[in-house]
Amino acid sequence: MTRKFAALPVTASIVGMLLSLSNLAQADSTPGADAQGSPVFGVTLPPGYRNWQFVSIAHEEGEKPDIRVILGNDIAMKAYREGTLPFPDGTIIARLAYKYESSAQNNAVFGRDQSFVAGEPTNVQIEVKDSKRYASTGGWGYGQFENGKPNPSEKIINGCFACHTKLPPETDLIFTRYSQ
Ligand code: HEC
Repeated sequence: MTRKFAALPVTASIVGMLLSLSNLAQADSTPGADAQGSPVFGVTLPPGYRNWQFVSIAHEEGEKPDIRVILGNDIAMKAYREGTLPFPDGTIIARLAYKYESSAQNNAVFGRDQSFVAGEPTNVQIEVKDSKRYASTGGWGYGQFENGKPNPSEKIINGCFACHTKLPPETDLIFTRYSQ
């Protein structure tokens, strides 16, 4: 009995140590396979993207309905606000998607079903502008991330440009417009 209890704090502190070690590794963002980034383009998840500014929002119906917010880094926001096209090198646009869910909590307040909210996150998609490095794909590099990890599928990654390139060239292959 006594021995069992005595072992608990030791186990807890070892677990704690391991957790903080793995946090350190994540904060560093260089080691391991993640450093490779997305297949084909080597796009990595940009640090701090969750704090970027709001460009717009979109909702997709279909088999997996979702709601997504589009955020831009400082270079992207300046270009959007000034209407600069094509976007300059260093632009990064992030698209964060969430399950599209009816909110039981909010509907109970309204007294009828009318509220839809962001559920679990599904994935984060990133577009990086580097006109030299990504010259063969309109200057854009693509990446998709689930739980912070790059999706390893070349097929999915090659699908990004294949679809975005259907836009007329004057859009710089970007669908999203700036919402005031
Ligand atoms: C079948 C077409 C299609 C494919 C494939 C596709 N996208 Fe998009 N993408 C869109 C559309 C349409 C929007 C704008 C509306 C929305 O978000 O639903 C968009 C928006 C975006 C945005 C926000 C900026 C913008 O261009 O409007 C990013 C970032 C993005 N996509 C990245 C990716 C990445 C990365 C992939 C591949 C992993 C990808 N997309 C695959 C159609 C596509």
